Amino acid sequence: MASSLPTIFYGPILHTLNHHTLQILPRALLAVAGGRIAWLIENVLPSDSGDTIRSAAASKGWHVARLHALKDGEFIIPGFIDTHTHAPQFPNLGRGQDYELLGWLHHITFPTESRFKDLEYARRTYESVVRRTLDCGTTTCCYYATLHEEATNILADVVHKLGQRAFVGKCNMDRESPDHYCEPSAQVSIEATQGTIQHIRGLKPAIPGMNLVHPILTPRFAISCTPELLGSLGELARVDRTLAIQTHISENPSEVDFVRTLFPDCRTYAHVYDAYGLLRENTVLAHGCHLDSDLLDAGADEEAISESEIELILSRGAGLSHCPTSNLNLRSGVARVGEWLDRGLKVSLGTDVSGGYSPSMLDAVRHASFCSKLVAMEHARKENSTLPVANGKPAPLGNRQLPLETLLFLATLGGAEVCNLASEVGNLVPGKSFDALVVSLRPETRNPNVWVEGDELQRSEESLQILLEKFLLCGDDRNIRAVYVAGRLAGGADASI
Ligand code: GUN
Ligand code: FE
Repeated sequence: MASSLPTIFYGPILHTLNHHTLQILPRALLAVAGGRIAWLIENVLPSDSGDTIRSAAASKGWHVARLHALKDGEFIIPGFIDTHTHAPQFPNLGRGQDYELLGWLHHITFPTESRFKDLEYARRTYESVVRRTLDCGTTTCCYYATLHEEATNILADVVHKLGQRAFVGKCNMDRESPDHYCEPSAQVSIEATQGTIQHIRGLKPAIPGMNLVHPILTPRFAISCTPELLGSLGELARVDRTLAIQTHISENPSEVDFVRTLFPDCRTYAHVYDAYGLLRENTVLAHGCHLDSDLLDAGADEEAISESEIELILSRGAGLSHCPTSNLNLRSGVARVGEWLDRGLKVSLGTDVSGGYSPSMLDAVRHASFCSKLVAMEHARKENSTLPVANGKPAPLGNRQLPLETLLFLATLGGAEVCNLASEVGNLVPGKSFDALVVSLRPETRNPNVWVEGDELQRSEESLQILLEKFLLCGDDRNIRAVYVAGRLAGGADASI
């Protein structure tokens, strides 16, 4: 697919148009040229597909096109967008689930991250990490690296080489960290950050004009950054509005209390980042389980709500990365994602390895579903009512479990919105980059948890919706046959055959 000849896919496409609209195109013909979706024709009967391809290709002056005709049980969805993960924490997957956040950082996480001063270890580990996230179907990934400049640059090189779309950030942390894993000053931290930004911006894109790897400012969280460091990062952000920013917010109650003591002049956690100019339309905020917890505990009135943290984040245009696997695993809390969506926030999903024990966005989807069911059950218990059902006018999402279309949205288009890349990726409309997964639920994938039979193989909208639900709830990387980023095959079960 690296050649300039267009490649054409014929088969079902499923994607979202917003958080409540799933579009299912059972018989789509989609052409990819120069890494982008050149055109998409709906409702093409199999018997007409040859003629339609030839006339569409002729109208564009194309002589040859390669055709991938999907088989029954296969379909295409947009690539997953993981808006929050830590590449150096993959060696810890599955460790430390008995800790809460602050103990886990000190006993499990910082010792492992400090190993990345060894650049050979960094290269080896990061190669495996990026191959793994690609094979899990993650076409865009927001990576935290460690505090080391050179190792962070290696992560960016690996991402670039393997063809993933990503944001790569060197962690800033100049206090409240162990001596062996703490930057000596704000100035040292800023100089290293500038070095990494320059390095990433110097990478030559494989497709001219299509930069897949972006730098991102990464103040680890308010606790690990002095006011001086946050101020200097805010200054970098001020002079370059294209620089994205990522950090953690309101993940755990002890963390929130600690932030309050470190920044007594700031009304809330979100106000800390805002005070330093770090809350804006290209900021990715991970977790947010305890946003506005004071207000909620006090049974807030309308006036208080209009001054809430969530309203501040909304007014700045920043987005949230919901990390349900991690939030449950580290007992951090249950985020109220439905309510965030109801209030118009940009919301996405993150795996948060290794607070989360899985690098797969499919697990993030499942756990997002579980978290929303916990919220719905709690709501029903408090209201002493049965769970609301979505018949007729839907109940607000805040009170009910997230439906299938919202779950797919969070893993795809929601991520694109949070990364400010929605004009580029997130769904499969002409003009966007072809970042997509070919999914197969056919028996030869050998995933015994996915049963597909009889009527479900018909290409009706109803049966395709069932296949999507089975994939999201029971699928795994065996079912992800091909992973395309900007039209190039970058991973998937078929990539190594
Ligand atoms: N807060 C600060 N650092 C981290 C981290 O590495 N993981 C998580 N989940 N939260 C954090
Ligand atoms: Fe994290």
